[in-house]
Amino acid sequence: NEIYFGGLLGVQPTLPMDYAELEARARAALPPSVLSYVAGGAGEETTQRANVTAFERWGLIPRMLVGAKHRDLSVDLFGQRLPSPLFMAPVGVLGICAQDGHGDLATARAAAKSGVPMIASTLTNDPMEQVAAEFGDTPGFFQLYTPTDRALAESLVRRAEAAGYKGIVVTLDTWIPGWRPRDLATSNFPQLRGHALANYTSDPVFRARLAKTPQEDPRAAILEWIQLFGNPLTWDDLPWLRSLTDLPLILKGLCHPDDVRRAKDGGVDGIYCSTHGGRQANGGLPALEALPGVVEAAGDLPVLFDSGIRSGADIIKALALGATAVGVGRPYTYGLAIGGTDGIVHVLRSLLAETDLIMAVDGYPTLDSLRVPGALRRL
Ligand code: FNR
Repeated sequence: NEIYFGGLLGVQPTLPMDYAELEARARAALPPSVLSYVAGGAGEETTQRANVTAFERWGLIPRMLVGAKHRDLSVDLFGQRLPSPLFMAPVGVLGICAQDGHGDLATARAAAKSGVPMIASTLTNDPMEQVAAEFGDTPGFFQLYTPTDRALAESLVRRAEAAGYKGIVVTLDTWIPGWRPRDLATSNFPQLRGHALANYTSDPVFRARLAKTPQEDPRAAILEWIQLFGNPLTWDDLPWLRSLTDLPLILKGLCHPDDVRRAKDGGVDGIYCSTHGGRQANGGLPALEALPGVVEAAGDLPVLFDSGIRSGADIIKALALGATAVGVGRPYTYGLAIGGTDGIVHVLRSLLAETDLIMAVDGYPTLDSLRVPGALRRL
């Protein structure tokens, strides 16, 4: 209404209203190597594209005379009442997408303004405590890349607890960098330097490790970080991960029903179905195709979902396929690039406005009403 009625009064929107335009504006705003880091994916990017086109294979069947004048998009997630089922997926190195280098703080402020939670990456530009201080009343979650040093992992989790994060999301698919031709062509990883190590350099365990290494090399912190990053966790590590915290523990990157069952048996609180936006491995199933099997195996556990969501219609389809909450990565990162906190809020509000309108027009006033057999049909 704000936009249509503004238009009638001669006020045109200045921010993009669809994903293609959003991406085009971000392309113009970001330096080429930063754009390739954000926009790029693994290999020939087939999985990345398939994540997006998978949504075209499902259609919602409209219901009439429902009178869906009031819609309720709210959801309970890990003991938190959220105004909508949308969240911001963890995106590392957000610092390079913001003019002042503080992209994580801008994102946390967008969470505060919109009520859409942020899952803060381990790779933030500012320490997690400073990010959490910007969340306002919106709950936040911490995403852990589990370092090889268990004492450091434990320290990061303790800090997240103390800073008020409401859950720990452990990402499983990124203990080794993916084959990303766009990044390889620009040797993009050096951009991590100074933009993503704040949680390490502010950590007492990491600092104690650094103090033991010869300090001549100005790259000491990044060299130590490289040593610690690649941790190929196995199922044998799950009891330890579980013992790390009483906060809700969520495993990110699960797409196979057997893995979901095993995680559930291991006592996790939530399953996060994702292909990392097609950034880690090419040639895989699009995440949306994996979702129904994940939901079935998860049973009563909440299922978070991301990879390929570009519109409100996509949000609706993922929810109808059983996701409890859905995340976006690149869309809000582009919002950050073109307009800082306001740009992110614009992207999130637009996604939610379309979601809400589809629920109104198609006669599905609640999230539960979407999750009935026959609401969605495979094309
Ligand atoms: C990511 N993603 C990610 N995931 C994670 O667990 N920790 C991280 O630090 C990052 N970093 C990261 C950087 C960038 C630039 C992108 C685009 C993504 C993956 C992210 O959480 C999510 O799974 C995908 O972004 C979802 O796909 P879409 O929405 O980008 O298609």
